[in-house]
Amino acid sequence: MPRILTGIQSSGKPHLGNLLGAILPAIQLSKESNNNSLFFIADMHSLTTIKDAETLKENTYSVAAAWLACGLDTDKCIFYRQSDVAIVTELAWILNCSTPYPMLANAHSFKDKASRLSDVNAGLFTYPVLMAADILLYDAEIVPVGKDQIQHLEMTRDIAIAFNNTYGETLTLPKAQINEELMLIPGTDGQKMSKSRDNYIDIFLPEKLLKKAIATIQTDSTPLEAPKNWANCNVFKLYSLMCNQEQLNTMKTHYEQGNFGYGHAKQALLELILERFKSERIHYEKIAQDYNYLDQQLLNGANKAKEIANKVLDRVRRKIGY
Ligand code: ADP
Ligand code: TRP
Repeated sequence: MPRILTGIQSSGKPHLGNLLGAILPAIQLSKESNNNSLFFIADMHSLTTIKDAETLKENTYSVAAAWLACGLDTDKCIFYRQSDVAIVTELAWILNCSTPYPMLANAHSFKDKASRLSDVNAGLFTYPVLMAADILLYDAEIVPVGKDQIQHLEMTRDIAIAFNNTYGETLTLPKAQINEELMLIPGTDGQKMSKSRDNYIDIFLPEKLLKKAIATIQTDSTPLEAPKNWANCNVFKLYSLMCNQEQLNTMKTHYEQGNFGYGHAKQALLELILERFKSERIHYEKIAQDYNYLDQQLLNGANKAKEIANKVLDRVRRKIGY
Protein backbone atom coordinates (compact mmCIF):
# COMPACT_ATOMS: atom_id res chain seq x y z
CA MET A 1 0.00 0.00 0.00
CA PRO A 2 1.70 3.26 -1.03
CA ARG A 3 2.13 5.88 1.65
CA ILE A 4 0.36 9.13 0.83
CA LEU A 5 1.31 12.45 2.39
CA THR A 6 0.32 16.03 1.83
CA GLY A 7 0.50 19.33 3.65
CA ILE A 8 -1.43 22.52 3.55
CA GLN A 9 -0.20 25.84 4.87
CA SER A 10 -1.95 27.78 7.56
CA SER A 11 -1.18 31.12 5.99
CA GLY A 12 -4.89 31.98 5.72
CA LYS A 13 -8.36 30.55 6.03
CA PRO A 14 -8.88 27.41 3.95
CA HIS A 15 -10.56 28.33 0.67
CA LEU A 16 -12.38 26.72 -2.21
CA GLY A 17 -9.11 26.23 -4.15
CA ASN A 18 -7.58 24.36 -1.20
CA LEU A 19 -10.70 22.26 -0.81
CA LEU A 20 -11.22 21.29 -4.43
CA GLY A 21 -7.52 21.24 -5.34
CA ALA A 22 -6.09 19.54 -2.27
CA ILE A 23 -8.21 18.61 0.74
CA LEU A 24 -11.09 16.72 -0.90
CA PRO A 25 -9.01 14.76 -3.43
CA ALA A 26 -6.54 13.85 -0.68
CA ILE A 27 -9.28 12.56 1.61
CA GLN A 28 -10.77 10.59 -1.28
CA LEU A 29 -7.40 9.11 -2.13
CA SER A 30 -6.76 8.16 1.49
CA LYS A 31 -10.02 6.22 1.53
CA GLU A 32 -9.20 4.42 -1.71
CA SER A 33 -5.73 3.48 -0.58
CA ASN A 34 -6.79 1.98 2.71
CA ASN A 35 -5.80 5.04 4.65
CA ASN A 36 -2.06 4.66 4.81
CA SER A 37 -1.89 8.43 4.77
CA LEU A 38 -0.38 11.40 6.53
CA PHE A 39 -1.87 14.87 6.34
CA PHE A 40 -0.40 17.85 8.07
CA ILE A 41 -0.74 21.57 8.55
CA ALA A 42 2.41 23.28 7.36
CA ASP A 43 2.52 25.97 10.04
CA MET A 44 6.31 26.26 9.78
CA HIS A 45 5.98 27.14 6.11
CA SER A 46 3.36 29.70 7.06
CA LEU A 47 5.90 31.46 9.24
CA THR A 48 7.59 32.64 6.04
CA THR A 49 4.67 35.02 5.53
CA ILE A 50 2.64 35.28 8.76
CA LYS A 51 4.30 37.23 11.55
CA ASP A 52 1.34 37.59 13.87
CA ALA A 53 0.98 34.85 16.52
CA GLU A 54 -2.79 35.12 16.90
CA THR A 55 -3.36 34.98 13.15
CA LEU A 56 -1.09 31.99 12.72
CA LYS A 57 -2.84 30.15 15.53
CA GLU A 58 -6.35 30.92 14.27
CA ASN A 59 -5.47 29.90 10.74
CA THR A 60 -4.03 26.61 11.94
CA TYR A 61 -7.22 25.79 13.80
CA SER A 62 -9.37 26.80 10.80
CA VAL A 63 -7.37 24.56 8.50
CA ALA A 64 -7.57 21.69 10.98
CA ALA A 65 -11.34 22.17 11.31
CA ALA A 66 -11.70 22.25 7.51
CA TRP A 67 -9.95 18.87 7.09
CA LEU A 68 -12.02 17.31 9.84
CA ALA A 69 -15.25 18.86 8.56
CA CYS A 70 -14.50 17.45 5.11
CA GLY A 71 -14.47 13.95 6.53
CA LEU A 72 -10.87 13.16 7.43
CA ASP A 73 -10.86 10.08 9.66
CA THR A 74 -8.17 10.58 12.31
CA ASP A 75 -8.39 6.97 13.44
CA LYS A 76 -7.30 5.81 10.04
CA CYS A 77 -5.05 8.66 8.87
CA ILE A 78 -2.29 10.49 10.67
CA PHE A 79 -3.23 14.15 10.95
CA TYR A 80 -0.79 16.52 12.62
CA ARG A 81 0.68 19.98 12.89
CA GLN A 82 4.14 20.31 11.32
CA SER A 83 5.55 22.26 14.28
CA ASP A 84 4.56 19.43 16.67
CA VAL A 85 7.07 17.17 14.91
CA ALA A 86 9.93 19.64 15.00
CA ILE A 87 12.62 17.11 14.06
CA VAL A 88 11.60 17.86 10.50
CA THR A 89 13.83 20.92 10.79
CA GLU A 90 16.81 18.70 11.56
CA LEU A 91 16.23 16.77 8.36
CA ALA A 92 15.69 20.06 6.51
CA TRP A 93 19.10 21.26 7.66
CA ILE A 94 20.74 18.02 6.58
CA LEU A 95 19.03 18.27 3.18
CA ASN A 96 20.06 21.93 2.85
CA CYS A 97 23.59 20.63 2.74
CA SER A 98 22.71 18.41 -0.27
CA THR A 99 20.77 21.11 -2.12
CA PRO A 100 22.49 23.11 -4.85
CA TYR A 101 22.06 26.86 -4.36
CA PRO A 102 21.01 27.53 -8.01
CA MET A 103 18.12 25.06 -7.69
CA LEU A 104 16.59 27.24 -4.98
CA ALA A 105 17.47 30.50 -6.69
CA ASN A 106 15.61 29.39 -9.84
CA ALA A 107 12.46 28.10 -8.16
CA HIS A 108 9.32 29.66 -9.72
CA SER A 109 7.54 29.98 -6.43
CA PHE A 110 10.47 31.80 -4.80
CA LYS A 111 10.87 34.19 -7.72
CA ASP A 112 7.16 34.87 -7.72
CA LYS A 113 7.04 35.55 -3.97
CA ALA A 114 10.28 37.56 -4.03
CA SER A 115 8.75 39.84 -6.65
CA ARG A 116 5.43 40.30 -4.79
CA LEU A 117 6.26 40.34 -1.09
CA SER A 118 8.02 43.05 0.88
CA ASP A 119 9.51 40.61 3.40
CA VAL A 120 11.79 38.36 1.34
CA ASN A 121 13.31 36.25 4.12
CA ALA A 122 15.62 33.23 4.00
CA GLY A 123 12.72 30.98 5.00
CA LEU A 124 11.07 31.75 1.67
CA PHE A 125 14.27 30.81 -0.07
CA THR A 126 14.74 27.46 1.69
CA TYR A 127 11.00 26.73 1.70
CA PRO A 128 11.39 23.86 -0.83
CA VAL A 129 13.98 22.16 1.38
CA LEU A 130 11.66 22.13 4.39
CA MET A 131 8.97 20.78 2.07
CA ALA A 132 11.34 18.04 0.88
CA ALA A 133 12.02 17.18 4.53
CA ASP A 134 8.26 17.02 5.22
CA ILE A 135 7.93 14.39 2.54
CA LEU A 136 11.18 12.44 2.90
CA LEU A 137 10.90 12.19 6.69
CA TYR A 138 7.98 9.81 6.26
CA ASP A 139 9.11 7.77 3.25
CA ALA A 140 6.07 9.17 1.45
CA GLU A 141 5.49 7.71 -1.99
CA ILE A 142 2.54 9.69 -3.31
CA VAL A 143 2.01 13.40 -2.70
CA PRO A 144 -1.32 14.79 -3.91
CA VAL A 145 -0.90 18.50 -4.65
CA GLY A 146 -2.19 21.23 -6.90
CA LYS A 147 -0.44 21.93 -10.18
CA ASP A 148 1.47 24.85 -8.68
CA GLN A 149 3.44 22.46 -6.48
CA ILE A 150 4.88 20.28 -9.27
CA GLN A 151 8.23 22.04 -9.20
CA HIS A 152 8.50 21.60 -5.44
CA LEU A 153 7.97 17.87 -5.88
CA GLU A 154 10.62 17.74 -8.61
CA MET A 155 13.00 19.52 -6.28
CA THR A 156 12.20 17.03 -3.51
CA ARG A 157 13.12 14.18 -5.81
CA ASP A 158 16.30 15.94 -6.95
CA ILE A 159 17.33 16.58 -3.36
CA ALA A 160 16.65 12.93 -2.42
CA ILE A 161 18.62 11.72 -5.43
CA ALA A 162 21.54 14.00 -4.55
CA PHE A 163 21.51 12.70 -0.97
CA ASN A 164 21.26 9.06 -2.08
CA ASN A 165 24.10 9.55 -4.57
CA THR A 166 26.35 10.82 -1.83
CA TYR A 167 25.39 8.46 1.00
CA GLY A 168 23.82 5.43 -0.70
CA GLU A 169 20.12 4.50 -0.93
CA THR A 170 18.49 6.16 2.07
CA LEU A 171 15.55 8.30 1.04
CA THR A 172 12.39 7.19 -0.76
CA LEU A 173 11.61 9.08 -3.97
CA PRO A 174 8.05 10.47 -3.91
CA LYS A 175 5.73 11.11 -6.85
CA ALA A 176 3.38 14.05 -7.19
CA GLN A 177 -0.21 13.20 -7.87
CA ILE A 178 -1.95 15.98 -9.72
CA ASN A 179 -5.63 16.07 -10.40
CA GLU A 180 -5.45 17.29 -14.00
CA GLU A 181 -9.18 17.88 -14.16
CA LEU A 182 -9.16 20.38 -11.36
CA MET A 183 -5.91 22.06 -12.39
CA LEU A 184 -6.00 25.57 -11.03
CA ILE A 185 -9.15 26.78 -9.35
CA PRO A 186 -9.64 30.42 -10.35
CA GLY A 187 -10.21 33.12 -7.77
CA THR A 188 -12.60 36.07 -7.82
CA ASP A 189 -10.31 37.89 -10.28
CA GLY A 190 -9.82 34.90 -12.60
CA GLN A 191 -6.21 34.37 -11.42
CA LYS A 192 -5.27 31.28 -9.39
CA MET A 193 -7.29 31.36 -6.18
CA SER A 194 -4.80 32.02 -3.42
CA LYS A 195 -4.68 33.33 0.13
CA SER A 196 -1.78 35.54 -0.84
CA ARG A 197 -3.72 37.14 -3.70
CA ASP A 198 -6.76 37.92 -1.57
CA ASN A 199 -9.05 36.61 -4.32
CA TYR A 200 -10.36 33.61 -2.46
CA ILE A 201 -13.73 32.27 -1.41
CA ASP A 202 -13.98 30.78 2.07
CA ILE A 203 -16.90 28.35 1.79
CA PHE A 204 -17.21 28.12 5.58
CA LEU A 205 -18.30 31.75 5.93
CA PRO A 206 -21.80 32.41 7.24
CA GLU A 207 -24.25 32.64 4.33
CA LYS A 208 -24.42 36.45 4.23
CA LEU A 209 -20.66 36.85 4.10
CA LEU A 210 -20.34 34.04 1.59
CA LYS A 211 -22.81 35.88 -0.62
CA LYS A 212 -20.70 39.03 -0.29
CA ALA A 213 -17.54 37.13 -1.23
CA ILE A 214 -19.24 35.67 -4.30
CA ALA A 215 -20.47 39.14 -5.25
CA THR A 216 -16.83 40.23 -5.63
CA ILE A 217 -16.21 37.79 -8.51
CA GLN A 218 -15.21 39.91 -11.47
CA THR A 219 -17.39 39.80 -14.57
CA ASP A 220 -17.56 41.85 -17.76
CA SER A 221 -20.19 44.51 -18.43
CA THR A 222 -22.43 42.62 -20.90
CA PRO A 223 -25.95 43.91 -20.17
CA LEU A 224 -28.51 41.66 -18.51
CA GLU A 225 -30.59 41.05 -21.66
CA ALA A 226 -27.64 40.13 -23.89
CA PRO A 227 -26.40 36.56 -24.43
CA LYS A 228 -23.19 35.88 -22.55
CA ASN A 229 -20.05 33.91 -23.17
CA TRP A 230 -19.87 31.32 -20.41
CA ALA A 231 -16.42 30.18 -21.46
CA ASN A 232 -14.86 33.47 -20.31
CA CYS A 233 -16.85 33.92 -17.15
CA ASN A 234 -15.24 33.48 -13.73
CA VAL A 235 -18.59 32.71 -12.10
CA PHE A 236 -19.29 29.99 -14.64
CA LYS A 237 -15.82 28.49 -14.23
CA LEU A 238 -16.34 28.05 -10.49
CA TYR A 239 -19.88 26.79 -10.97
CA SER A 240 -18.75 24.20 -13.51
CA LEU A 241 -16.21 22.76 -11.05
CA MET A 242 -18.92 21.74 -8.62
CA CYS A 243 -22.13 21.13 -10.55
CA ASN A 244 -23.44 18.01 -12.25
CA GLN A 245 -23.89 17.61 -16.01
CA GLU A 246 -27.52 18.63 -15.98
CA GLN A 247 -26.83 21.80 -14.00
CA LEU A 248 -23.99 22.56 -16.37
CA ASN A 249 -26.20 22.30 -19.45
CA THR A 250 -28.89 24.45 -17.86
CA MET A 251 -26.36 27.09 -16.91
CA LYS A 252 -24.90 27.18 -20.42
CA THR A 253 -28.38 27.66 -21.86
CA HIS A 254 -29.08 30.53 -19.45
CA TYR A 255 -25.89 32.28 -20.53
CA GLU A 256 -26.56 31.75 -24.22
CA GLN A 257 -30.21 32.85 -24.10
CA GLY A 258 -29.67 36.20 -22.43
CA ASN A 259 -31.95 37.81 -19.86
CA PHE A 260 -29.76 36.12 -17.31
CA GLY A 261 -27.45 38.52 -15.49
CA TYR A 262 -24.24 37.88 -13.61
CA GLY A 263 -26.23 38.50 -10.43
CA HIS A 264 -28.35 35.47 -11.28
CA ALA A 265 -25.26 33.40 -12.00
CA LYS A 266 -23.76 34.42 -8.66
CA GLN A 267 -26.94 33.51 -6.82
CA ALA A 268 -26.85 30.08 -8.51
CA LEU A 269 -23.22 29.66 -7.48
CA LEU A 270 -24.08 30.58 -3.87
CA GLU A 271 -26.88 28.02 -3.80
CA LEU A 272 -24.65 25.38 -5.32
CA ILE A 273 -21.94 25.93 -2.70
CA LEU A 274 -24.49 25.88 0.16
CA GLU A 275 -25.91 22.62 -1.17
CA ARG A 276 -22.61 20.96 -2.10
CA PHE A 277 -20.96 21.76 1.26
CA LYS A 278 -24.03 21.55 3.49
CA SER A 279 -22.81 18.88 5.91
CA GLU A 280 -19.23 20.18 5.86
CA ARG A 281 -20.44 23.66 6.84
CA ILE A 282 -22.48 22.27 9.75
CA HIS A 283 -19.56 20.15 10.98
CA TYR A 284 -17.12 23.08 10.66
CA GLU A 285 -19.38 25.41 12.60
CA LYS A 286 -19.49 22.85 15.42
CA ILE A 287 -15.74 22.31 15.83
CA ALA A 288 -13.95 25.40 14.49
CA GLN A 289 -13.88 27.21 17.86
CA ASP A 290 -13.28 24.11 19.95
CA TYR A 291 -9.51 24.48 20.23
CA ASN A 292 -9.19 21.78 22.91
CA TYR A 293 -10.78 19.23 20.65
CA LEU A 294 -8.66 20.31 17.68
CA ASP A 295 -5.46 20.26 19.77
CA GLN A 296 -6.24 16.80 21.02
CA GLN A 297 -6.76 15.52 17.47
CA LEU A 298 -3.54 17.14 16.25
CA LEU A 299 -1.40 15.97 19.18
CA ASN A 300 -2.59 12.39 18.81
CA GLY A 301 -1.60 12.61 15.17
CA ALA A 302 1.81 14.09 16.00
CA ASN A 303 2.58 11.18 18.34
CA LYS A 304 1.85 8.70 15.56
CA ALA A 305 3.82 10.75 13.04
CA LYS A 306 6.86 10.86 15.36
CA GLU A 307 7.06 7.08 15.44
CA ILE A 308 7.65 7.02 11.69
CA ALA A 309 9.78 10.17 11.58
CA ASN A 310 12.21 9.06 14.31
CA LYS A 311 13.06 5.88 12.44
CA VAL A 312 13.74 7.66 9.17
CA LEU A 313 15.80 10.36 10.83
CA ASP A 314 17.86 7.70 12.62
CA ARG A 315 18.60 6.11 9.27
CA VAL A 316 19.68 9.47 7.84
CA ARG A 317 21.80 10.39 10.87
CA ARG A 318 23.71 7.14 10.68
CA LYS A 319 24.39 7.65 6.98
CA ILE A 320 25.86 11.11 7.44
CA GLY A 321 28.13 10.01 10.27
CA TYR A 322 26.30 11.22 13.38
P1 ADP B 1 -2.56 29.35 -1.23
O1 ADP B 1 -2.09 29.49 -2.64
O2 ADP B 1 -3.90 29.90 -1.04
O3 ADP B 1 -1.57 29.91 -0.24
P2 ADP B 1 -1.62 26.83 -0.39
O4 ADP B 1 -0.33 27.17 -1.07
O5 ADP B 1 -1.63 26.77 1.09
O6 ADP B 1 -2.71 27.82 -0.91
O7 ADP B 1 -2.15 25.48 -1.01
C1 ADP B 1 -2.59 24.35 -0.30
C2 ADP B 1 -2.95 23.26 -1.26
O8 ADP B 1 -4.08 23.67 -2.04
C3 ADP B 1 -1.86 22.91 -2.28
O9 ADP B 1 -1.87 21.53 -2.58
C4 ADP B 1 -2.24 23.72 -3.48
O10 ADP B 1 -1.73 23.20 -4.68
C5 ADP B 1 -3.75 23.64 -3.41
N1 ADP B 1 -4.31 24.84 -4.01
C6 ADP B 1 -4.22 26.09 -3.52
N2 ADP B 1 -4.84 26.96 -4.32
C7 ADP B 1 -5.32 26.23 -5.35
C8 ADP B 1 -6.05 26.56 -6.52
N3 ADP B 1 -6.41 27.80 -6.77
N4 ADP B 1 -6.36 25.57 -7.35
C9 ADP B 1 -6.00 24.29 -7.09
N5 ADP B 1 -5.33 23.91 -6.01
C10 ADP B 1 -4.97 24.87 -5.15
N1 TRP C 1 4.01 24.05 -0.23
C1 TRP C 1 2.73 23.45 -0.08
C2 TRP C 1 1.70 24.45 -0.56
O1 TRP C 1 1.87 25.61 -0.44
C3 TRP C 1 2.44 23.06 1.34
C4 TRP C 1 3.35 21.96 1.78
C5 TRP C 1 4.35 22.04 2.70
C6 TRP C 1 3.32 20.61 1.33
N2 TRP C 1 4.96 20.85 2.85
C7 TRP C 1 4.37 19.95 2.01
C8 TRP C 1 2.55 19.94 0.41
C9 TRP C 1 4.63 18.60 1.78
C10 TRP C 1 2.81 18.59 0.18
C11 TRP C 1 3.85 17.94 0.87
O2 TRP C 1 0.70 24.05 -1.02
